[in-house]
Amino acid sequence: MTTTALVPIRTARRRRYLLCPPVHFAVEYSINPWMDPARPVDAAAALRQWESLYRALRDLGHRVETIAPRPRLPDMVFTANGAAVVDGRVLVARFRHPERAPESLAHRAWFRTAGYRPAVAARPSEGQGDFLPVGDRILAGAGPRTSPAAHREAQRVLGRPVVGLRLTDPRYYHLDTALAVLSEDQIMYYPGAFSRESNRTLRALYPRAILATAQDAAALGLNAVSDGRHVLLPEAAHGLAARLHADGFRPVPLRLTELLKAGGGPKCCTLELHPAPQGGRP
Ligand code: ARG
Repeated sequence: MTTTALVPIRTARRRRYLLCPPVHFAVEYSINPWMDPARPVDAAAALRQWESLYRALRDLGHRVETIAPRPRLPDMVFTANGAAVVDGRVLVARFRHPERAPESLAHRAWFRTAGYRPAVAARPSEGQGDFLPVGDRILAGAGPRTSPAAHREAQRVLGRPVVGLRLTDPRYYHLDTALAVLSEDQIMYYPGAFSRESNRTLRALYPRAILATAQDAAALGLNAVSDGRHVLLPEAAHGLAARLHADGFRPVPLRLTELLKAGGGPKCCTLELHPAPQGGRP
């Protein structure tokens, strides 16, 4: 007897994203294990690669906004860290490292101009790098950048229950380097990046999750952007692309190798402006 596995039907929802062109991108300091200032970065290639991400999001029908890049902020391309946005509520980051601290001001100004009422985090926390809305909860990373105290603050400001997850491997310093939200009820993650207790939590909440191999995780394959159907991810993560396909998703491989030198991938460059319910005011 042959059995045919049922492949779920995945539907895309039109999203709104905030990106920042990597005009001042460079690796001038090292605040995560991927960054080696001695290794040259090809700035023109970084810009071209980023443009391929921008185009891919636009071609999928999403609305893409940009925030103006500022000089001397080489990591500002990683907009996901600037704020956590859930249901139109905004918690602007408080960066752990002084090198990135001024990015908060730029984000606060952008959100104000765009009509939001942003709160600025009192505790170190790095936006959607560590706070990922999924279904009616927020998955939150606790690790080198964001503390459990910040999780409590996020729950209060963003108004949704927060599930804290402990990151244990310095290479996976933000939640979005080790876990991606694919749909309202599906995620993918690398078990090796989380504490034993957090692995138990993830297994209980998402028993059908896609699990990444060490190799795909090391290609930053989990730093992926999903609209519910299409999943933009680093092209080197071949195993994940195959698993996504088998689960009904459409992988969209992207080459962002220059940005990877700073420890970033598609998701780090993409802040989702998660909407207020029923188009309500932010
Ligand atoms: N160089 C940046 C940093 O270490 C990379 C940030 C990547 N962003 C992300 N959402 N994981 O802060």
